[in-house]
Parts: sequence; structure tokens; C-alpha cells
Amino acid sequence: AGTPDLTGRHVVVSAGGTREPLDPVRFLGNRSSGKQGYALARTAAARGARVTLLSANAGLPDPAGVDVVHVGTAVQLREAALKAAGDADAVVMAAAVADFRPETYATGKIKKKDGEEPAPIALVRNPDILAEISAGRPRPGQVVVGFAAETDDVLANGRAKLARKGCDLLVVNEVGERKTFGAEENEAVILGSDGTENPVPYGPKEALADRIWDAVVSRLPHQE
Ligand code: PMT
Repeated sequence: AGTPDLTGRHVVVSAGGTREPLDPVRFLGNRSSGKQGYALARTAAARGARVTLLSANAGLPDPAGVDVVHVGTAVQLREAALKAAGDADAVVMAAAVADFRPETYATGKIKKKDGEEPAPIALVRNPDILAEISAGRPRPGQVVVGFAAETDDVLANGRAKLARKGCDLLVVNEVGERKTFGAEENEAVILGSDGTENPVPYGPKEALADRIWDAVVSRLPHQE
């Protein structure tokens, strides 16, 4: 660990992937393992921060010295994030949040019926947590960080997403069925709303996490 430059700060990190239930046995989900978000939580704690980790279906052990709140769906993650962000110096949204959820939840297992075509699944939009926190800034000077998980035109999509979401920093990483998701390593470009673009070469997810905290620390207002 380097300098304890997050001492006295409260940071909120989301990790993992939301699951949007269809019925008691099925859900719509994604391939996030939670490793990048947990690396952010561990490195922030090592740098002296009080850390609240909002964990969505990560299945990883709770990191030592970190407050962990377990959530399932995007709606639950939003509620936990808005509550934790109230007094946070920084919020980092590393969780993969479902943009849509099934419109209805069947309380019993959906059955297939002989000779019938499968029924389409109607979806409704989930709240955009990152955009809401960026717009609301519950605490003055709060630094808000998002991620962009892209498969194509990675940097162009990342730049557009930074403008759309209104956050201070956006960490753009390329994903695929076996790329980034679940891996021990990652590479990314950290985009700043001030126009900065800092590439972080392929390496352990902890190393990327430390570069993200460096960028956060340089944007935090001085402590009284
Ligand atoms: O967990 P790992 O296996 O280690 O993999 C890491 C990762 C690929 C999940 C991570 O590095 C990553 O990219 N996380 C963000 C995934 C994602 O949801 O990206 P997005 O481009 O769909 O969303 C953009 C941003 O908006 C993200 O910060 C996301 O948390 C946020 N968001 C998205 C939708 C929504 N409804 N609310 C949100 O807050």
C-alpha cells in the first residue's frame, strides 16, 4: 500500500451484476464477477478510506474492514446507493447494472405449454443510478465515477457515455464473453470530464483500481 491519502474520506463502490427476476427460479443477468469492484474497495480501504461496498450477486468473501451491503436488483442497488452516497466523498459505480427488467414477475415458475409458442418477455427501463447521483450530488465536491463496458468503438462510446451520464470520471473497458468479466486483469482508459484521457495498461485489477483512486484524490476538495 502507498500513502494513506483517503484517510478521513468515505467512499462508496458498487460491484457485481444486478439480477432481474422473471419468476422464482429465473432472472436476466450479466457476466460481472464483482472482481473489479472488490479490488476498488480493497485498495480504497488500504489507502485509509471508510468504504461502503454495494455488492450485487458477486459471491466473493466480504473484504476485511469494509462495510458490505448486499443487493440483488437494480432497484435495490439504487436505494442502497442513494442512501450510502448521502455523506460520501466519492462514489464509484463499477457494478454492471441491467438497463431493463421484466415488466412482470411471475410468483410461480413459468411453465411451457405443449404446442404453444413461447410468450415474449416485456421489459421496462431501470433507473439510471449513475446519472441520478451525478445530477443530484448529495454532498458538495463529491467525485462521481462511472464505468463503461463496451464491445465496439470502445473509446468513442466511452466519450459519449461520459457526456450523457454527467460524472467526473469514466473508466472505459472492453468486455466480451471471456474478456474482462471474471478475469484477474483489466486494461482501461480513464476519461475525465475536463478532457483528460489516461490509458492504464493491462495488469491486475488492483493496479487499475489504484489509478482510479489517484484520479479521484486529485479531484477531491481539501479536507478541513
Ligand atoms: O466484475 P468483473 O468480472 O471484475 O468485471 C468488471 C466490469 C466489466 C463489470 C467493470 O469493469 C465494468 O465495466 N462495470 C460497468 C458495467 C456496466 O454496467 O457498464 P455500462 O456501460 O452498461 O454502464 C455505464 C455506467 O452506468 C456504469 O458505471 C454502471 O454502473 C452505470 N449504470 C448503468 C445502468 C443503470 N441503469 N444504472 C447505472 O448506474
